[in-house]
Amino acid sequence: MKTTENLMNKAYSQEEFKKDAPKLIDMISKELAASLTKEMPETIKRYSPEEQLRFWQEDFSSAALVELSVLMEKVMSHSINFHSKGYVGHQVAVTLPVTALTSAMMAYMNNCTTVYELGMAGNAMEKVVIDCLAEKFGYNKGATGFVVSGGSMGNLTALVTARTSSGIEEQNYYRLAIMVSEEAHYSVERAAKIMGIRSDNIIKIPVGNDFGIRSELLERTYQQAVSEGKIVFCVVGCACTTSVGAFDNLEAIADFSERHQLWFHVDGAHGGAVIFSEKYKHLIKGIERSDSLIVDFHKMMMTPPLSTAIIYNTGNRKVNEFSPKAAYLWQDQLSEEWWNSAKHTLECTKPITILHTYVIMRLYGDDIYQQNVDMLFDRGKQFAEMITAEKNMELAMEPKSNIVCFRYLPKNADADKINQIITQKLLEDGSYYVVSTRVRGKYYLRVTIMNPFTDKACLERLIVKIKEIAAKEE
Ligand SMILES: Cc1ncc(COP(=O)(O)O)c(C=O)c1O
Repeated sequence: MKTTENLMNKAYSQEEFKKDAPKLIDMISKELAASLTKEMPETIKRYSPEEQLRFWQEDFSSAALVELSVLMEKVMSHSINFHSKGYVGHQVAVTLPVTALTSAMMAYMNNCTTVYELGMAGNAMEKVVIDCLAEKFGYNKGATGFVVSGGSMGNLTALVTARTSSGIEEQNYYRLAIMVSEEAHYSVERAAKIMGIRSDNIIKIPVGNDFGIRSELLERTYQQAVSEGKIVFCVVGCACTTSVGAFDNLEAIADFSERHQLWFHVDGAHGGAVIFSEKYKHLIKGIERSDSLIVDFHKMMMTPPLSTAIIYNTGNRKVNEFSPKAAYLWQDQLSEEWWNSAKHTLECTKPITILHTYVIMRLYGDDIYQQNVDMLFDRGKQFAEMITAEKNMELAMEPKSNIVCFRYLPKNADADKINQIITQKLLEDGSYYVVSTRVRGKYYLRVTIMNPFTDKACLERLIVKIKEIAAKEE
């Protein structure tokens, strides 16, 4: 039987909204306090995909309508808790609580940055923050940029811009090639493939012992590519790599790209935020000479996803890389107009995610980024020292960032196997979330410290847990 109740009046009513909102705020506040202060909060209660699906199918099929807070309790109890001190998995931001409020404002206002009028404040805020970042990164006056939905989108946008700006004619596109570290994030290769760049023209440069690009190979590799008829138009630097957190020598790449007038793009999705840290910004020396860079706000800069700055240095960029013809949005498709951001991004409707970053910078100043980077990178180093002090554990490399790869070394068993079991048992235990990677073909545990409240004691308990699991399995 269809309801006769006026659902529009109910769903849009102020009373309905006010009834639910305080309950959700209360729920978040309680979970936040427990996550950051309890000695060992629950990080993950892992249900199998089948169990999880059954649970939601059952919930969905229930005839009774539900209260919002009851539903949200269910969502939270069936989700990973990124605010837990034991969350040391992938590079997901431990969001600042204020972004729960900015998210609500964003959702309600529903402004977007497509064309100026649809997000007047948002479009201007993007420009203000991008201008500020461009200056920090040492780009020239007049640098431009936008916010896009994620690092993958940012890398794709930069490569498309690089190709347009190269001036290479379309009939030669089949010869286009890029050069990039073999350790680069997969989104770079995927972006190149989306652009139709052939697999053997995505030239992977080997890395050295520090997992940074072997810059001494750049020239020889380039000459080889040219002799094979390839047209290299772009070289990509990593700051830092995803797997082990290694930084490429950006100065060496800048020298190389300037010599051959190649577009130099830096993937700073994770590590670009070190620009705020006096202690760690040396890791990206040379970035000021790049043509473009990306940095994810939703990694080290504590916002929800997806929110990525793409910034272009002045000089090589030809604007209007997309030149979209859309008379219903703007009259002149060729003019730059920063306030009509859809002209410059692959996206059309795009939320004003800049609101999170703008608010964070206005409430706390950019010192908050310096503190976050310093605390997390310092903690990464401290954790590495703790691993080194363990006689049955080894590091994949001395960490340069908050990403630490290590493994347990059994006396008489297969190391890969034991470490796979450790990952699985930690997941079943649920107090820590640790992931894994392969380094030079070997299986390693991978910890990324994203939570400034993940203290030494918490990491000591993790090591004890790993040793206990290993002792049972050896
Ligand atoms: C170095 C690097 N680049 C790009 C990306 C892709 O970013 P996103 O997940 O925002 O698309 C990641 C994600 O982890 C990354 O680590």
